Amino acid sequence: MLHMQSVTKVYRAGDVETRALRSIDLHLAKGEFVAITGPSGSGKTTLLNIMGLLENIDGGTYTLDGKDVSRLSDGECSRVRNEKISFIFQSYNLIPDLSVAANIEAPLRYRGYSAAERRRRVEAALGKVGLSTRARHLPNQLSGGQQQRVAIARAIAGSPAVIFADEPTGNLDTQMSQQIMDLLQEINREGCTVVMVTHNDAHVERASRHIHILDGAIVTPAASPQIAAVRGAAA
Ligand SMILES: Nc1ncnc2c1ncn2[C@@H]1O[C@H](COP(=O)(O)OP(=O)(O)OP(=O)(O)O)[C@@H](O)[C@H]1O
Ligand SMILES: [Mg+2]
Repeated sequence: MLHMQSVTKVYRAGDVETRALRSIDLHLAKGEFVAITGPSGSGKTTLLNIMGLLENIDGGTYTLDGKDVSRLSDGECSRVRNEKISFIFQSYNLIPDLSVAANIEAPLRYRGYSAAERRRRVEAALGKVGLSTRARHLPNQLSGGQQQRVAIARAIAGSPAVIFADEPTGNLDTQMSQQIMDLLQEINREGCTVVMVTHNDAHVERASRHIHILDGAIVTPAASPQIAAVRGAAA
């Protein structure tokens, strides 16, 4: 469903030019659960944002669900995102002065659902993440793990084809992380493609595929000096 060929991304800030992605070839099938790892600054967030059409590519081609999305206008990008894509961020990104239910409902408004359909979807998503009794709470009245579950409810309420998650458990303790991973795995089993950036080896194990990035390029895990070093140390 997702095909990238020779994708490059360069950031320019003043005199400094960063080649954030060098030449990415990547093909994902529908229903995969992909874990992306790599050191800080290697390009994981850049890749995720590009896959999720939050940022444009500078070179190469990108096809999503049969549509060439390499060079879309901002408006076209938002349309494709609304239809097919959801994000989950490390810092939850909930709107602080909206209730839990209103946070989940907000993106549904852009999808043209009736009020009754939006209500049905909000209730179903809240039930799925186990927070039906918290619908009227504000985000800051919830724990971090609960806030991330609200973000997951918001992500799944519109039945996206793919969810991009950037270190979704990065701010959570082990037990809460486990709950988030259980949920992501369940959502994936129900057919949603999930692409997740993580630093946690146990979470990588849960994915159906592992992609490692070094310095803006995908390397096979065995060829990565870091991973080889970890394996060597463990042996
Ligand atoms: N908006 C930007 N402007 C300039 N440079 C940027 C921008 N965003 C990212 N970069 C640079 O691109 C490179 C890749 O950044 P990216 O955020 O993708 O790394 P990452 O792998 O997600 O790191 P981390 O694990 O710390 O989140 C870094 O060198 C970063 O400094
Ligand atoms: Mg990042």
